[in-house]
Amino acid sequence: MSALEPLLEFLSIPSVSTDPRHQKDVRRAALWLKERLEVLGFRSELHETPLHPILYAERLLDPEAPTVLVYGHYDVQPPDPLELWESPPFSPTVREGRVYARGASDDKGQLWAHVAALEGLEARVNLKFLVEGEEEIGSPHLLPFVRAHREKLRADVVLVSDGAMFAPHTPTLTYGLRGLCYLEVRLQGARRDLHSGAFGGVAPNPIQALGWILARLKDGTTGRVLIPGFYDRVRPVSEEEKRLWPPLDEEALKGELGVEVLPGEEGYSPLERLWARPTLDPNGIFGGYQGEGSKTVIPAEAGLKLSMRLVPDQDPEEVADLAEAYLKALCPPGYRMEVRRLHGGKPVLTDPQSPPMRLMARALEEVWGRPPVYAREGGTIPVVAELQEALGAPVVLLGLGLNDDNLHAPNEKFDLVNLEKGILAIRRFHGLLAESG
Ligand code: BES
Ligand code: MN
Ligand code: MN
Repeated sequence: MSALEPLLEFLSIPSVSTDPRHQKDVRRAALWLKERLEVLGFRSELHETPLHPILYAERLLDPEAPTVLVYGHYDVQPPDPLELWESPPFSPTVREGRVYARGASDDKGQLWAHVAALEGLEARVNLKFLVEGEEEIGSPHLLPFVRAHREKLRADVVLVSDGAMFAPHTPTLTYGLRGLCYLEVRLQGARRDLHSGAFGGVAPNPIQALGWILARLKDGTTGRVLIPGFYDRVRPVSEEEKRLWPPLDEEALKGELGVEVLPGEEGYSPLERLWARPTLDPNGIFGGYQGEGSKTVIPAEAGLKLSMRLVPDQDPEEVADLAEAYLKALCPPGYRMEVRRLHGGKPVLTDPQSPPMRLMARALEEVWGRPPVYAREGGTIPVVAELQEALGAPVVLLGLGLNDDNLHAPNEKFDLVNLEKGILAIRRFHGLLAESG
């Protein structure tokens, strides 16, 4: 397949946005894509930011024709732990119809489908590409960019492929994403680490205090988050909407995770907990001695990384305020607490019946031979809510990945059949859109 070779090149660039050592590589990925778009007749601009550049490119054919804005990201997550990869993360390798590499599914492979779909495209549609290199670090510079460039970005539809199909061989239209509020909590006790014998009994222990606080964030029996006001803005899901959801194979999910139960908030199905309920999960905890053997020490500091997935109509800033107030109230005397807001993103709901969603549903049915399922997803793409608000255009979320693609993990992969079918569906979508305009 001719779309594969350039993708392998794209995937070989280690564009890890969070790692300063890869700053040049991130830029190289942007320039690589810029050139591919220029070859296809795009006029392009690289917008510098204090960190990684934003690539904007447009190919405007006809002011009367509909305009599509494609969003994607060319940055990737760090590849570690390296020893668990079967082939190196930046030496893309095809095995059994899948390409293995960091970024294969998230998001270079999916983004590439939108570029490859333009090869030989005859439909009269105006195209705009907005591609960033900071999605994996929370899109700090793209959010203000979108607000400042509404006119330039103006489009009739926003098209994003940065998610997964509900199941293999199941074309999927996504109409909801969760948001995110990510905090780091640091707790300081004494001014320095202390001998646990010489000072144990009079010394504050920030690990102990952090554990006590952590245990008060969520009810151990009901799985409810205990931050006052946390659920106030959660929009309930209608019975009508739930009836449209595809059935979740709970046994298969348990098998995939290697667990016997799927713990979570009492009174809600697993699918509702994944798609339409907010969560609170510690993502990391640190403090004290982590090495081999034992060291008798009372640490001066301990910390927690806390991620909260949000649903409409929760707001990341507001949830951060609520969480910070509650955490501070829980902080016992004798400790200093610092709460840092690392990143966030607003949740998204789109209209599953918008005109472009209907066109995409037709395109998917033609290509896959079956109509799409309508799904929400649990992950976050920070700029989507911003694009929806700033441009007022309908958003079409077309996930081409699979849930077993190992996003952010070793052996990330992308199934080539979905690349191929994705390209055909996107091309067909442009054709249908041009006809409908
Ligand atoms: N592509 C993912 C988001 C995603 C994952 C959507 C799974 C649907 C299903 C994206 O690259 C990502 O990893 N987002 C981060 C956001 C964060 C870094 C601000 C996330 O969801 O953790
Ligand atoms: Mn992504
Ligand atoms: Mn990601």
